[in-house]
Amino acid sequence: MAATTFNCFLPLVLLILIVKGSCDCSLNNINIGTTRSGKEIQGKPEWNVSVINNCSCAQSQIQLACQGFQSAESVDPSILSVKSDTCLLINGKPLQGFDSVVFSYAWDPPFLLLPKSSVLGTCS
Ligand SMILES: *[C@@H]1O[C@H](CO)[C@@H](O)[C@H](O)[C@H]1NC(C)=O
Ligand SMILES: *[C@@H]1O[C@H](CO)[C@@H](O)[C@H](O)[C@H]1NC(C)=O
Repeated sequence: MAATTFNCFLPLVLLILIVKGSCDCSLNNINIGTTRSGKEIQGKPEWNVSVINNCSCAQSQIQLACQGFQSAESVDPSILSVKSDTCLLINGKPLQGFDSVVFSYAWDPPFLLLPKSSVLGTCS
């Protein structure tokens, strides 16, 4: 009897470990790259920003620290909405695993954008 219980239980434990292991995502997997687009808007250099979810789990409610953020060109608030020193990405909707969001802004100097918080979602 005891052996049967064990045999049923072990695969379940392994399955949980595998699922957990493949979903080892965190805020550290949100990578932000900023490159010069080459254009100038109102005399200010334009920057292309890509926010990449470099892991297999979706993350939602992604907030970036964006102290002092402003732009000479408007940034679509459905992509980046600025609330004082915190910017919310894509209205808090989930960014799927290995997906990215890109936007551009123009200012001199560029801003240091850093992942601040997020909610881990489902994993693929
Ligand atoms: C910057 O973004 C714009 C708009 O998405 C795109 O057309 C352009 O190719 C990008 N430039 C670079 C250098 O990535
Ligand atoms: C994604 O993560 C891998 C492994 O940690 C790393 O080598 C790669 O540079 C990351 N990609 C981006 C776009 O940050």
